[in-house]
Amino acid sequence: MSQPTGPASRSHARKQPAPPPEPMDVTLTINGSRKTLRVAPWTSLLDALRLHLDLTGTKKGCDHGQCGACTVLVDGRRINACLTLAVMTEGRAVTTIEGLADGEALHPLQEAFVEQDAFQCGYCTPGQICSAVGLLEEGQARTDDDIRELMSGNLCRCGAYPNIVAAIRQVMDSQPASQDGGTP
Ligand code: FES
Ligand code: FES
Repeated sequence: MSQPTGPASRSHARKQPAPPPEPMDVTLTINGSRKTLRVAPWTSLLDALRLHLDLTGTKKGCDHGQCGACTVLVDGRRINACLTLAVMTEGRAVTTIEGLADGEALHPLQEAFVEQDAFQCGYCTPGQICSAVGLLEEGQARTDDDIRELMSGNLCRCGAYPNIVAAIRQVMDSQPASQDGGTP
């Protein structure tokens, strides 16, 4: 008996799933160390950090770019690691919360968050601090309202916002003013 050759059989043939892309090697510079990972091409930077490098300081909240818990710095600019593919950061410098301290010396923003009691459960805190590092580098904030606006992508379900603003303000006020408005 001959095989059917009508439209129904052609549509069945079209539905054969394509084989998934092969895993690929990605070399990342994380907190100053080069790491080569073998990951699926669609692996987010967040999953590469947490699942492949055991850098679990960067948190997964929404996994959809809505909460800021996954904020890290790429070439000094803050980004959401859940919205960034690991392959997109090949050859760029990624800094996570684990890379901010200088040995035993905390980053000034880490110290300020402790001094200002700027966290409760702490889940949002790594993202808040990395985002604040990026904010200071951008040099756009002048007032507490500016800080609130420019940190609005980082949510805190514990409502520690006043203390977070106070911590960032503390570090801003400790920095010398620059002529061009940017952070020196
Ligand atoms: S986990 Fe990335 S923005 Fe929420
Ligand atoms: S300190 Fe708990 S979510 Fe911000």
